[in-house]
Amino acid sequence: MSRLRAAAARGLRRQRRGSGSAAPNGRSSSKGASLREGAPARPHALHLFRDPVEIDALRGRLLAWYDKSRRDLPWRTLAAAELDADRRAYAVWVSEIMLQQTQVATVIDYYNRWMQKWPTLQALAAASLEEVNELWAGLGYYSRGKRLQEAARKVVSELAGRMPRTAEDLQRLLPGVGRYTAGAIASISFGQATGVVDGNVIRVLCRLRCIGADTSSLAVIDCLWDMANTLVDRSRPGDFNQALMELGATVCTPKSPLCRECPVKEHCHAWRRVEKELASASQKLFGKTTLVPDVEDCGPGGCPLCLPAAEPWDSSLGVTNFPRKAAKKQPRVEWTATCVLERRGRLGAPEYLIVQRPSSGLLAGLWEFPSLPLAPGLQEEQQKEVLADHLRAWTRQPVQTQRLCFIGEVVHIFSHIHQTYVVYSLCLDGDVALDAASSSSRWVTEEEFRASAVSTAMKKVLKARETQRGAQSGRAKGSKRKRESKLGAAGSTPTGMQLSLRAFLRAQPPP
Ligand code: ADE
Repeated sequence: MSRLRAAAARGLRRQRRGSGSAAPNGRSSSKGASLREGAPARPHALHLFRDPVEIDALRGRLLAWYDKSRRDLPWRTLAAAELDADRRAYAVWVSEIMLQQTQVATVIDYYNRWMQKWPTLQALAAASLEEVNELWAGLGYYSRGKRLQEAARKVVSELAGRMPRTAEDLQRLLPGVGRYTAGAIASISFGQATGVVDGNVIRVLCRLRCIGADTSSLAVIDCLWDMANTLVDRSRPGDFNQALMELGATVCTPKSPLCRECPVKEHCHAWRRVEKELASASQKLFGKTTLVPDVEDCGPGGCPLCLPAAEPWDSSLGVTNFPRKAAKKQPRVEWTATCVLERRGRLGAPEYLIVQRPSSGLLAGLWEFPSLPLAPGLQEEQQKEVLADHLRAWTRQPVQTQRLCFIGEVVHIFSHIHQTYVVYSLCLDGDVALDAASSSSRWVTEEEFRASAVSTAMKKVLKARETQRGAQSGRAKGSKRKRESKLGAAGSTPTGMQLSLRAFLRAQPPP
């Protein structure tokens, strides 16, 4: 979902750069765009909503379905009960930013904790970035939480605590608020009749109007925003937008849509095409000449919204012919050595050294086990050397490479990076003094680690270390038989962690 939003945003940026005459809320003169791109013809009626009677019927059906089927979600409850427009907009804003990160089910708990801790813009503005990062930990894309707080500070300090009231102003005045978020806040909190386009809406609209071209293309993005703005219900814009997104999330799903349950299937050209094919197939089966008219099509001629000629309609896919996936950029491959550095704390429980990342860039300001990027092609011994060297900067004692113990590899996929952490552990004897001048490192218990602003990847790294410890103590206690069964599976470590072939062979350098 967020990839599609990113594609839409990319398209929007291109649009702005290209036209030089972008109006607020990302609108630019479509005349300018047409001229630049060789004046594409007006889209075929197949791809449009033009009949006001049909538009009215679709709105009515969708809203009736939403009234009956909508999920009870905390931000909806809050927004419905909140009379103060600024508080209402804040409650919606937080939910929309979080929903760009992950699914509804995951967001609920984060949202409740956030709103409990910072129920108002003023409360969020007064929080520290560290607190924001701690609460955001696990949601991903940490810069979003940070920017939300920066924007809240701006509303409090520069706009006297008053949220901008229109999508245009929200997008213009608030850092981190893009066209989608602005439309969602304005329609849901202020009742502005403005559409929204997110991943779910893209899917629903592409199916309703058989749009099969690349959803990151300017022609498709423009068309979808125009359509969303045309369709949005004038008297219940917030509910309409949420209903469209809800339909995409629960009925018009990516792989297994529940078309028979869809409240707007009568308006769906993709569904109509499936029905016609079925009718035609059954007529053929009974030896009748086909009475079913041909499926509506733009015909030859390079329609910028149709399925590409090279990848035409595939009957086996049904409505999931739409939308076609945007071309995906390959993630960058990176390797990082990381060390779970441990000492015995009070009562003998382990304590871990965590260090703070720089205040900009990936995972800005978060805490992690001491880590450093690995150059390609390093053997394990070389990895240990560079890691030991790096660790010396944090501990005040020499680190012997042979005491570094290889644990395994933890893979974490960021939106644009395929990151492999090559994990080592090292137990230090006695107390270790940290560089007194450094405020960017600290020893934490396991509980403190979990409450800190650490990334999901680092939580996986600690889990790998704990699994290893469990296996070690199991080996110390357990029978030989037990040990054999643990070590038995090829490709897994004594910890039971699945290893890549590279780690399994151990002697191979990273690619
Ligand atoms: N996805 C993002 N925001 C949403 C909302 N308000 N309702 C349903 N789905 C959503």
